[in-house]
Amino acid sequence: MTGPTRIIAGNWKMNGTGESLDEARAVAEALAQSPAAVRVALCPPATLIWRMKEALGAGPVEIGGQDCHAEREGAYTGDVSAEMLTDAGARLVILGHSERRAMHGETDAFVAAKVRAALSAGLEPIICVGETLAEREAGQAEQIVERQLLASLPEALAGQAFAVAYEPVWAIGTGRVAEPADIATMHAHIRAVLARHLGDSGDRAPILYGGSVKPSNAAETLSVPEVGGALVGGASLKASDFLGIIRAA
Ligand code: 13P
Repeated sequence: MTGPTRIIAGNWKMNGTGESLDEARAVAEALAQSPAAVRVALCPPATLIWRMKEALGAGPVEIGGQDCHAEREGAYTGDVSAEMLTDAGARLVILGHSERRAMHGETDAFVAAKVRAALSAGLEPIICVGETLAEREAGQAEQIVERQLLASLPEALAGQAFAVAYEPVWAIGTGRVAEPADIATMHAHIRAVLARHLGDSGDRAPILYGGSVKPSNAAETLSVPEVGGALVGGASLKASDFLGIIRAA
């Protein structure tokens, strides 16, 4: 079956200092010797993007940011723009992660503005959506995710390369992975919304699953229809675990 190119992306979140580059190097070296069947990316904290790019060069691991501001530049203390990420060596950027939506009050409209900024800077956005446990238990998961998608994905994405990550909030960092049947239902729903909203590019965009993906559950999760890869948190911090997931894809 030909489908979108699958991506295994590691989100280091607020973890990692210079020493952690050894883990990134170990991933790149293993993939240089035995290439992966998928695209592989690491998204370290902003402070490590340039250093990781220098350490890995033009090898098999792409580098991404974890967020960017919607404006190109200006008086936004502490923020990083999409241009700055590109300049530092990033090709991708995670946007709308549930931790930013919950802890930094990011709205769908703000996420959409960031997506536009990322595209203007030549970055490929990985746009995150996902329901909370209360929303799932209330039977609203698909409705919530559809609403997030429609409001977070600007029309500007038509014709552009991007990915969506479905990350149920209750599965992040909890060791609890969604059931394959629930992942299949949600990913099919996301595909239908993307195709309706964005045409061909909505048909082509990989839909990643995220939430407690580990080497032990990766093969099962990645074999679910319409799962186009994984967005991996904790298990991307150790080369051996991350490689276990990449090899399962
Ligand atoms: P964990 O893999 O640690 O559950 O994190 C998932 C995630 O939030 C990736 O963006």
